[in-house]
Amino acid sequence: MAEIDTKAFEQDLADRGYSRRQMGKAAALLGAGAAALRMTGAMAQQAAKPVAGAVLIGANECWTGPFPVGAEAAFKAVQEGNRYEPDDEHAKLFAAVSSVEGIPAERITAWPGSSDPLSRVAVAFASPTRGIVTGNPTYEAIWRTGDWLGAKVTKVPLNKDYAHDVKAMLAADPNAGVYYICSPNNPTGTVTPLADLQWLADNKPKDAVLVIDEAYIHWYDGPNAAKMAATRDDVLILRTFSKLFGMAGMRLGLTFASPAIMEKMMRYDGGQVTAMLPMTAVTCGTASVTQADLIKARRAEMIANREMAIAHLKSKGIKVIPGSQANMFMVDWGKPAKGMQAEMLAEMVQIGRSWPIWPNISRVSVGSAEEMKTFCNAIDKVWKA
Ligand SMILES: Cc1ncc(COP(=O)(O)O)c(C=O)c1O
Repeated sequence: MAEIDTKAFEQDLADRGYSRRQMGKAAALLGAGAAALRMTGAMAQQAAKPVAGAVLIGANECWTGPFPVGAEAAFKAVQEGNRYEPDDEHAKLFAAVSSVEGIPAERITAWPGSSDPLSRVAVAFASPTRGIVTGNPTYEAIWRTGDWLGAKVTKVPLNKDYAHDVKAMLAADPNAGVYYICSPNNPTGTVTPLADLQWLADNKPKDAVLVIDEAYIHWYDGPNAAKMAATRDDVLILRTFSKLFGMAGMRLGLTFASPAIMEKMMRYDGGQVTAMLPMTAVTCGTASVTQADLIKARRAEMIANREMAIAHLKSKGIKVIPGSQANMFMVDWGKPAKGMQAEMLAEMVQIGRSWPIWPNISRVSVGSAEEMKTFCNAIDKVWKA
């Protein structure tokens, strides 16, 4: 790995409007001092500590672990755990992902989950003079990174279809450094059309980065944005194995981006973070990512469980935000969501949180068929219109 050129980093930050004090913070974020903030990002889904014995449908996790072929690959890696990297495991992962997504392996980088690159892209491209624009509600990890950096964070409400309103996002801050779109969106599960993503990429400032977070894309039976990162130098796609692949605790994520973006992303400790992944996670990911039939079956199982629960809620006259294409949906109780969350927990069903913009609406993650039946039974007990 290349020697770190501290002077060049400082100059880069100064050019982008950082004060000395803010430079220290940015350096800390990308170094050892970052652990606390990144941890907050990674743990964001864990709104509350999991309650032992409860149905856990609050953190958008998968209801089950990795595919058996992934678990077998990880077990083999355990047995070979004395070796740093037994057989070019990173290269095998990139080749497998490249074959599935149709993008060059050189544009693929692996991370311990997607929280790190999500926070890192904000540090690399936003600053006190170049803000961050996101939807609202959306996955809020980047809000915290922006606040911490002293970058302006602009939150633009979703449109009437609960997709990102890309024109309003650009108008809200035409000179931002980062435009963040989560599709399918956490917490609504709704998808922003590819044409809108393309429009934003073509119309944002040339030196800004469009970040498209596709953490939930495998739950969606439609086109993804991966190829935008194959052809453009200003789009970064985030992927994670924490959701459909059931690997949240194993820690594996990906970015798809141009070498120009990666050069900025890899500053400070990037080489350490991306090279030092556990082989258990890397081999499990490689074995899992090509399993098109298993992915399809897991998606179909989730959709059946989701739709069963939504139908039950509707039969009781409870409103659900329409259009989720992911393993979550939002329930509008018409009264404070915090109270409903507590009442459900008393029935040993741990549902998700609400967002400040929608205090009466809870996010519910989709669990197994049995877990979703327990959810429906708990609703029957606690619901009073
Ligand atoms: C939209 C989105 N992006 C990124 C992440 C980060 O997940 P991880 O670090 O496990 O990849 C999450 C986690 O829930 C998420 O919902």
